[in-house]
Amino acid sequence: MERLAIASDHAGRELKEDLKAYLKELDVEAVDMGVDNDKSVDYPDYGSPVAEKVSKGEIGKGVLICGTGIGMSILANKFRRVRAALVSDVYTARMSREHNDANILVIGGRIVGKGLAREIIKVWLTTKFEGGRHQTRLDKITEIENKINGGK
Ligand code: RB5
Repeated sequence: MERLAIASDHAGRELKEDLKAYLKELDVEAVDMGVDNDKSVDYPDYGSPVAEKVSKGEIGKGVLICGTGIGMSILANKFRRVRAALVSDVYTARMSREHNDANILVIGGRIVGKGLAREIIKVWLTTKFEGGRHQTRLDKITEIENKINGGK
């Protein structure tokens, strides 16, 4: 059974709950790292535990949802080895896996409807990274990441 970590702020919670139900149908285990109520919260508090897990290799993939998806994607991409893709359509979902090997999917809960979000997550989870020239490009990103952060 595939496993991923999922989290949202208050603005993404309704979509998170719907996607969790859908992931169950797809036989994917979703480790829910909050939020569990509609009270206003700060998205970094919920996004960072997921990004940290992916960054450390404790879990292969993550899904983050806030209102627009922008805050969560800015946050997640601060973490080393995280390639978070903010996705609002099925084509980008597929390309973010084929070309970018995205390991965190970010969705805007106030932007993307439930039906489309389900399509996006299904495509994202079933599309494989193509490697080849795209791996070369990702290696360059890793090199830059290591340089910026002072070594490995
Ligand atoms: C919360 O109002 C909203 O700012 C947040 O969910 C997110 O959209 C931030 O990028």
